[in-house]
Amino acid sequence: MKVDSISSLARFILSQECQSIGVLTGAGVSVASGIPDFRSPGGMYDILQPDLLTATPDQRALMKIDPTYVVSWEIFQENQFPYMEVRRPFILGTMRQQWNATIAHRFFELLERKTRFICKRGSIKLTVKSKLTRIYTQNIDGLDHQCHRIPSEKIVDVHGSLSKASCEGCGVAMDISEFCRLVETNIKDIYNLGDGTSTGSSTESKPIFCNHCQRPLVKPTTVLFGRNLPSQFFECVQKDLPQMDLLIIAGTSLVVSPANSLVYQCPKFTKRVVVNHEAVGEDLGIDYTGKGEGRDFFAQGSCDEVFLDLAVELGWLQDLLDDIDMLPPSSAKLLRERTRSTETV
Ligand code: OAD
Repeated sequence: MKVDSISSLARFILSQECQSIGVLTGAGVSVASGIPDFRSPGGMYDILQPDLLTATPDQRALMKIDPTYVVSWEIFQENQFPYMEVRRPFILGTMRQQWNATIAHRFFELLERKTRFICKRGSIKLTVKSKLTRIYTQNIDGLDHQCHRIPSEKIVDVHGSLSKASCEGCGVAMDISEFCRLVETNIKDIYNLGDGTSTGSSTESKPIFCNHCQRPLVKPTTVLFGRNLPSQFFECVQKDLPQMDLLIIAGTSLVVSPANSLVYQCPKFTKRVVVNHEAVGEDLGIDYTGKGEGRDFFAQGSCDEVFLDLAVELGWLQDLLDDIDMLPPSSAKLLRERTRSTETV
């Protein structure tokens, strides 16, 4: 079946041909919740000001050349403050559950709930399976996990998560509430947001020591550049990809490996759908010309709008409406507007 429009994508998802769906997401799926992405104008790397950070001239120079150094093991092992200062509002905001899952996240939850089918194992055993095989999220914001109806083993936090803290040196965990309290008091608020997150912050950052090894290497369990991804990522990739009929790639620039390797590691028969503001991953083999093997479809636009269109096409609008109170304001507004326009048609 050819997938070259939202309606043909919806038909494919519901068809027998499509039995296993993988999702690879990036920061773009969370933008509607109020969390900026990394590389767009206004994104974390775009607005990074190394001169505001507690760092040496050499470290600042590195971050000016390549802002990803702020979240690198290379700098963190010598100086934890650039990472902690940049991440302070995000760590505290996540603890306060400041951000909500968007339409895009809720759509993936619907994929889990609405595509269940009975499959035969052996000669008599029948089991219920959902077409959603896995969500590979590069995001550390935990919004995928707000969608409780997705079994947690189906979500791979490719770059770790902010929900826990541990020592990057010895691996021993620190209670997340204790860690957040220390972040609030010990880490300087470089953004000075005036929204309550700077309450109690010091004017000079102080280290947060590990209760076990006493080194100042405690941080959220996110993956720094130069460190390994969780083994779950490699295990799931190996298990999932050979069977994957559809890979949905949403809100990611696809510039970070090995997360982006899903795109070219999946079999030739896997259909790939890119939901993004702009074309991404051409260097990885995604074909935007339509002249290739016809396996790629570009659903250009904002994640919330595209997944809302797809939900409407699949007949799942009411299901999204049932959860409207849990959406962030901009997603809820979009859903309300769409519901009104659907009613008048
Ligand atoms: P990026 O900021 O690199 O890319 C986000 C992509 O989403 C861009 O192509 C945007 O144009 C697009 N986008 C933004 N908002 C959108 C929206 N509402 N709808 C549709 N598209 C939108 O973020 P990631 O690809 O997630 O890693 O970045 C990958 C990794 O780089 C992150 O996980 C992080 C970062 O360094 C680590 O820290 C290890």
